[in-house]
Amino acid sequence: MAEQEILLGINIDHFVTVRQARYKDYESTYGNQVEPDPVAFAHECECAGADSITVHQREDKRHIQPEDVRRLRASIKIPLNLEMAATDSMLEFALSVKPDYACIVPENRQEVTTEGGLNLLEGKESVGKVVKSLSEAGVVVSLFIDPKADQIEMAAELGVPVIELHTGSYANAYYSDGRAPEYERLKTGALLGHDLGLVINAGHGINYENILEVRTLPHLNELNIGHTIVSRALFTGVPEAVREMRRLANGG
Ligand code: PXP
Repeated sequence: MAEQEILLGINIDHFVTVRQARYKDYESTYGNQVEPDPVAFAHECECAGADSITVHQREDKRHIQPEDVRRLRASIKIPLNLEMAATDSMLEFALSVKPDYACIVPENRQEVTTEGGLNLLEGKESVGKVVKSLSEAGVVVSLFIDPKADQIEMAAELGVPVIELHTGSYANAYYSDGRAPEYERLKTGALLGHDLGLVINAGHGINYENILEVRTLPHLNELNIGHTIVSRALFTGVPEAVREMRRLANGG
């Protein structure tokens, strides 16, 4: 039987970082002058073979703006994955937009990017409430967690269908002795999640080099990749950057 393809979700946050560097205070985030347009970028990703588009609507709105999410919702044909903190205001926003998927992530104002997975042992109630409301609204919910047995077991207990394993520690350790143990942690986590009936996604810090090993993790459904694709697209254009990552993710 043919192996199932690993899907490629593209996180477009850092494309939007370019716009925000110049047009941070604009209420309306599109128009003739306010560039570049993330919806146009998402369309190019879609045409080049992306399987979903991810945006992280942060509380401090440092890149993606609510209007971007609404415009994406109205225009892209592939699924929209909204990364969000488990707060009442984000829940209200998510229920108004109804993305196809929502990935619950931890959020800390000072961080440059999402630094660790959710702590489901401490945040069980707040995360559980958001999972329940979104699931009842028909949104497929995933939890962004480190590859730790207690977190994976708690995710299963909370009833989500999907987990996204945080590959950041692996990516950071890639050029050191820490790489092999970090890979093993991810592998063990993926096997456990699969045994518990969870769909396994992964993301953070994946690039055109480490993808060659990441893709060998068992039971991978989808990889969520952002910064490296946006960076590569500056040199090659979007279609080439997306196609190359898709090819590498699937053994090319
Ligand atoms: N998955 C999650 C949950 C994230 O928070 C991020 C970064 O925003 C990514 C994937 C993509 O990470 P990167 O930009 O390093 O590819």
